Amino acid sequence: MRHARPHRKTRPDHRAPAAEAECMQINHPNLLGYHGEGFSRVQGWCSDKLFAVIDMLASCRINKAGGVAEIGIHHGKLFLLLNQLTGAEDSSFAIDLFEHQTLNIDKSGRGNLAIFQENLRKYDAHQGRNVRIIAGDSTDPALDLVATIGRGTLRFFSVDGGHTVQHLLNDLAIAQQTITNEGVVIVDDMFHFEWPGVTEGVVRYMQSFPTLVPVAMGHNKLYMCKMSYHGFYLSLFERCPLAVRRVSFCGWSVIALSHDRPAG
Ligand SMILES: C[S@@+](CC[C@H](N)C(=O)[O-])C[C@H]1O[C@@H](n2cnc3c(N)ncnc32)[C@H](O)[C@@H]1O
Repeated sequence: MRHARPHRKTRPDHRAPAAEAECMQINHPNLLGYHGEGFSRVQGWCSDKLFAVIDMLASCRINKAGGVAEIGIHHGKLFLLLNQLTGAEDSSFAIDLFEHQTLNIDKSGRGNLAIFQENLRKYDAHQGRNVRIIAGDSTDPALDLVATIGRGTLRFFSVDGGHTVQHLLNDLAIAQQTITNEGVVIVDDMFHFEWPGVTEGVVRYMQSFPTLVPVAMGHNKLYMCKMSYHGFYLSLFERCPLAVRRVSFCGWSVIALSHDRPAG
C-alpha cells in the first residue's frame, strides 16, 4: 500500500553533537537559545551547521528587515531557526499540507500541525505570535501565496515542500517574488540522490534566466539571492569559516561549504 511506507528520509537529523556545536560560532542570542534548547528535540531534517551559516547571514549589514517563510514545515525544525531572527512586528509564514497528506504526492516528510504548534509554543522567540500558518498545497492557486505573503517582504524563504520538478518551479517562483531584494532563499536537498527532482527543478528554473541565482551550497542546502546582490553574498560566503572552494553552477560562481571540516 502506498501510504504504508514511512515518509521520506530514513534518518531524521535531530541531534546536535556537542563537539560540532563547540566549534561553531553562534552570536545571535535567539539562535544560541534555540541551539541549546529545542533544536535537538524537534524532529526534522536540518544540519546544525545551519546555525553558523544563518548567524553569519543575520550579522551582515544588509537584509535586516522582514519576516521569514518556509514551504515544507514538517515539525518546524528549520522554520524555528529562521524565525528566531525576526522581530515581533515581522510577519512570518509557515506553509505545509499538514493534515492533507493525500496531496503529499512524493511523500516528502509529513507535516503535523499539532506538533508544530507545540514546538512554536515551546521554542519560538515569539511563541508563534508573528507566524501565520497556512495549511495547504503550495501549488494550489486558490492560496494565492504571493498576494497573501506580499511581494518583496521576506528576509529568508526556505523551499522544502514537495520535491518534484514541478514543485520546485512553483515554489521558487513564489520565493523569488516574496523575498526582499536583499533576501536569501534556501533550497533543501540540492544534489541529494534520493530527490533528483530538486536538482532538475533548480536547473530548469535557472534556464529561465531568473533574477534569483545560486551563491552557496552545503549541508544539503542551496543558498540563492537576487542577482544584484550576488557579488555581496559571494564575498560574504567566501569569508565563512565553512567555505571550501569556489565552484561554478548554472553560470554563477558559488561557494561550496564543507560538511565535516571545522573552521581553520
Ligand atoms: C522534508 S519535510 C520538511 C522538513 C522541514 N523543513 C524541517 O526543517 O525538518 C517536507 C514537508 O513538505 C510538506 N509538503 C509536501 N508537499 C507539499 C506541498 N505541495 N505543499 C506544501 N507542503 C508540502 C510535507 O507535509 C512535509 O511536512
